[in-house]
Amino acid sequence: AIGLATAAQAQTYPQRPITMIVPFAAGGPTDVIARIVGDHMSRTLGQQIVIENVAGAGGTTGITRAAQAQADGYTIMMGHMGTHGAAPALYPNLKYDPTKDFAPIGLAAGTPIVIVAKKDFPANDLKGFVDYMKTNGEKVNMAHAGVGSVSHMTGIFFNAVVKTKPTMVAYRGTGPALNDLMANTVDYMTDQIVNVAPQIQGGNIKAFAIATAERSPALPNLPTTKEAGLDGFEVSAWNAVFAPKGTSPEIAKKLSDALVKALDDESTRKRLLDLGGVIPSGAERSPEALQKLVESEVARWTPVLKAAGATAE
Ligand code: MLT
Repeated sequence: AIGLATAAQAQTYPQRPITMIVPFAAGGPTDVIARIVGDHMSRTLGQQIVIENVAGAGGTTGITRAAQAQADGYTIMMGHMGTHGAAPALYPNLKYDPTKDFAPIGLAAGTPIVIVAKKDFPANDLKGFVDYMKTNGEKVNMAHAGVGSVSHMTGIFFNAVVKTKPTMVAYRGTGPALNDLMANTVDYMTDQIVNVAPQIQGGNIKAFAIATAERSPALPNLPTTKEAGLDGFEVSAWNAVFAPKGTSPEIAKKLSDALVKALDDESTRKRLLDLGGVIPSGAERSPEALQKLVESEVARWTPVLKAAGATAE
């Protein structure tokens, strides 16, 4: 009987609005990606996808809450390279295992990392920025979204490559961090392109380089780190949709199919591409591909972050 009930539920799913937990403050990259893909997914599913921002502890607070939600398809989440890649290395008491405690739904967007600074920062290129950082050390303030966030882990990586030790300033997301960057009250950050592209295009903050092998079509004048003279700092992040472990395969498939439809929808693609987002290719979109990505990212980042001595507890 229970089997029949769950089969019937899956058949008629979704019957009511779906909550998508975003583990960072509204207005940041993860929130922006969630709202863009969620907007189209809700059209396919025929039910509103309601974004709930649950910030804190580098995104692990929101993901922990989502992981413990009913596995009925009505609570899903937008995770990323921090919450589902870096977190195990940084939070010894993490309440979830990214490789075991989720039903992977699919990749939403790749997000190249950009090195940005406040407009008043006394440097006009990457070399000048790095020289200033080396001279001024902890007098320089680096914004990030909490230990284990993408901005934190890529900031740690950048600081290790250029051998500086700035003062780290935590925010509930890089949306709020960007506000302080524009107010000239924090100095720099390494952030996901979809958050900072409009402000770079608007001339409201400085950008020194993008940490990818090729330039972004959304920021064609921004040099790559290599072009700007810095070897060894190439990194892109990713944001992906997950459901709690135990979500029925039929429901997970409906969610995954809706996400894939969003990524094939012209206006959805344009919104992501205009912000410098990278649309996952066909092969990258399956739940199995996401599961493999999570496993490889946890394996990749754990030694890097432990070597950098980064830990939250
Ligand atoms: C955000 O949405 O605020 C970012 O994903 C935070 C981060 O991971 O840096």
